[in-house]
Amino acid sequence: MQDSIRDTSKTGPIHLSRDGRTVEVNVQYLVKTFGKHEAVKGVSFTIGKGEIFGLLGPNGAGKSTTINMMCGYLQPTSGDTIINGFSVTKEPMKVKRNIGVVPQEIALYKDLNSMENLEFFGEIYGVSAKERKERAEEILHFVGLYERRKEPVENFSGGMQRRINMAIAMIHRPAFLMMDEPTVGVDPQSRENIFDTIEKLRDQGITILYTTHYMEEAERLCNHIAIMDEGCIIALGTLEQLLAMRDQNREVQRPHGLQELFIQLTGKTLRD
Ligand SMILES: Nc1ncnc2c1ncn2[C@@H]1O[C@H](COP(=O)(O)OP(=O)(O)O)[C@@H](O)[C@H]1O
Ligand SMILES: [Mg+2]
Repeated sequence: MQDSIRDTSKTGPIHLSRDGRTVEVNVQYLVKTFGKHEAVKGVSFTIGKGEIFGLLGPNGAGKSTTINMMCGYLQPTSGDTIINGFSVTKEPMKVKRNIGVVPQEIALYKDLNSMENLEFFGEIYGVSAKERKERAEEILHFVGLYERRKEPVENFSGGMQRRINMAIAMIHRPAFLMMDEPTVGVDPQSRENIFDTIEKLRDQGITILYTTHYMEEAERLCNHIAIMDEGCIIALGTLEQLLAMRDQNREVQRPHGLQELFIQLTGKTLRD
């Protein structure tokens, strides 16, 4: 595929890519090997400021490993990520203030209530006591759980706990938020709330990386999408570019957008 959005420039902090996006995140040739297994095989892409960028791929494709390297949880075997001009591997402390991560596994103190969880994580991020409280209340309204702020989160459904997990990632007002499969195992009501929250964040100018194995979620939310399989990006572009690519490849009748494209490229379905 002609790649009109990839920008592998290693110079300068924020720059314009060839199609005019202001690049906030520049992922450069990330590789991760676990023993003999190469889980991520040289992944590069850029995310424009204020974009919802979708990293789409089946289980085991390497999405979480990629995110974990992008946020500094995991040291890459090689490659780096530049976020807002700072290198994740060389200047992690400068990066951490600007990013929030919603991990694939829910991480909360279940015997604490949501306010306490948010204030606790806010303190870890160095948010002042006064701001922590204000910000915690604001975000609980945002994710629709303010009324239940005094209940221990162990009483919450999986979807509600996921929303608190998202709220925690926003307590320090990061400009760039990474979300790893936030809708897996979530009830439909929480799923809608999560989509609404993401759209509100986008409207506030927050840049978002969203991973999923549900192609319809990527089609609904994301303006730019990278499709990953077996550690590699196999297609990259705007939703329109990817769907046009599907149309070019199409030999028979059109069924479904990204799902069909994925099948054409790999011979597998996303949920194989
Ligand atoms: N800590 C680890 N040790 C060994 N193998 C791992 C580890 N983490 C992930 N893997 C392997 O790397 C591949 C990619 O995993 P992952 O990034 O979790 O994929 P995804 O998030 O797309 O489902 C899988 O084959 C997985 O088994
Ligand atoms: Mg994963």
